[in-house]
Amino acid sequence: MSVIASPEGRRACSCPPKHLNCLTPKEWMKAQLGVWQFYYEGRDVRDKTLHPATFPIALARRVIELFTHKGELVLDPFVGSGTTLVAAQDLGRNAVGFDLQKAYVSLCARRLEAASNGARQVALEADARDIPRYMAPETVSLAVTSPPYANLLNRPRANKSRRTVDRKNDQLGRVEQYSQDPRDLGTLDLERYGAEMERIFGGILPLLRPRAHCVINVPDMWWENRRLTIHMTVIEALRRVGYELRNVVIWDRTNIVNRIGIFGWPSNYITMGVTFEYLLDFWRPPAGDGV
Ligand SMILES: C[S@@+](CC[C@H](N)C(=O)[O-])C[C@H]1O[C@@H](n2cnc3c(N)ncnc32)[C@H](O)[C@@H]1O
Repeated sequence: MSVIASPEGRRACSCPPKHLNCLTPKEWMKAQLGVWQFYYEGRDVRDKTLHPATFPIALARRVIELFTHKGELVLDPFVGSGTTLVAAQDLGRNAVGFDLQKAYVSLCARRLEAASNGARQVALEADARDIPRYMAPETVSLAVTSPPYANLLNRPRANKSRRTVDRKNDQLGRVEQYSQDPRDLGTLDLERYGAEMERIFGGILPLLRPRAHCVINVPDMWWENRRLTIHMTVIEALRRVGYELRNVVIWDRTNIVNRIGIFGWPSNYITMGVTFEYLLDFWRPPAGDGV
């Protein structure tokens, strides 16, 4: 398969060439905070039967505004319900998203139907490992995504984070996984997951412009009373293939989580994974910096 014509990524603003984004100095100052909070809005997909794990449009919007100009090209290698594409559409950015599941790609298309503003956003049904076949080198200004979390959701839900009275909801016993497709990163143990993340993001690196950012949203998880440091697996995988970690932002979810249960009391202190996640901000180092 040859490189397809993904949307162009030329700037459609009059910002000076060295500017990272179209933000005003005041907006830039606000964005310097290292802890971010977001609210879901009416257009967000919260129905877990449509997609089990979406991030808010507001999150994608913040990242896109911070790391791109109007008209530039955004890539989401694990696009799911298409939240990144919706935010890109709102902001006049071109965008391409990939997902293994036809149902999710169709959902993306439906969410994008409503509006259009000159820029193009497309979702393609493909394995993220094949992205370099679809896109040209040095065209992408930002990659932003929330990948699967290894095989940690590939088990029936026990609803332990809920209070006892709330546990028996319609999610109890469900496997909150995208698919059992062996290509799905959500079927792999953490070690193989790290290796495949390395391969996928290694393939994406040459598609990024030098100094283009790559923002990855992951939580850590608990398994059999051990902390699984998914964020460290991701940092190590991306460093191995030439990305440089620039910032770690904490997505503080306390404003959107309610009615949590009690863990570990009275002898074993465990922070609730659902109360925060990581936003790992890497970039493709500028030429001359080892890439
Ligand atoms: C956490 S979800 C992304 C959710 C998205 N941020 C949203 O707001 O809807 C991860 C997605 O990765 C997809 N996926 C898993 N393995 C993949 C692969 N090898 N290539 C492409 N997509 C994959 C899953 O189908 C799932 O939709």
